[in-house]
Amino acid sequence: MNRIVMLNGSPKKKGSASEQYLNMIYENLDNNYYIEEYDMNKLTNTIKKSILNADMLIIATPLYIDCLPSHVIKFLMELGDNDIAGKEVYFLVNCGFLEGVHTDVSVEILKNYCDYHHLIYKGSLGIGAGPIAYKKRIYNYFVKKELIIFSNYINYHKNYEDDYVRPLIPRFIYILFANINWFIQIKSFKKN
Ligand SMILES: Cc1cc2nc3c(=O)[nH]c(=O)nc-3n(C[C@H](O)[C@H](O)[C@H](O)COP(=O)(O)O)c2cc1C
Repeated sequence: MNRIVMLNGSPKKKGSASEQYLNMIYENLDNNYYIEEYDMNKLTNTIKKSILNADMLIIATPLYIDCLPSHVIKFLMELGDNDIAGKEVYFLVNCGFLEGVHTDVSVEILKNYCDYHHLIYKGSLGIGAGPIAYKKRIYNYFVKKELIIFSNYINYHKNYEDDYVRPLIPRFIYILFANINWFIQIKSFKKN
């Protein structure tokens, strides 16, 4: 049986977009895998042991300042001190901007990491409007469809050509609602 370790790079304790996307992949994977899921806040011995025993890693993370979050970089650097060569790696990164292509630099960073540590890079999916792209049926159509395709590539261990998706929502509406949401959040902080 193939062993998969899913790694969630969001620092949020629960309800992160990365968690939602990992769950969607999980639902679409065949049940002949043994799957474990961990967050990437700290590389504990338990996590290290699971990763070293795994055949494949699926890393899902948010985009922070066009890059990977710093705790994810720290986690990966510490992991790199071990013999991790030969494991397959799929990468899923979601960002706040509407266009998924903003994640392209983080994809290059992960590719370099895989090269350096002799991991088998299998492909990346960059998702735009990450905080909402898993929510509503109508506008997330393309994102869900691509996630199912991505999961099928994982199922068959196929190389996925890096791709970037975004929900079908006009840019000005997304920006308007994002600004309203920021305003509501700032107001609630002021009250506390
Ligand atoms: C510190 C910080 C930096 C961020 N930098 C970017 C960025 O450079 N580009 C972008 O599109 N989104 C950026 N975002 C937005 C996150 O990528 C987005 O909210 C994502 O959906 C969070 O995923 P999560 O819920 O899995 O943590 C940033 C968010 C934070 C908190």
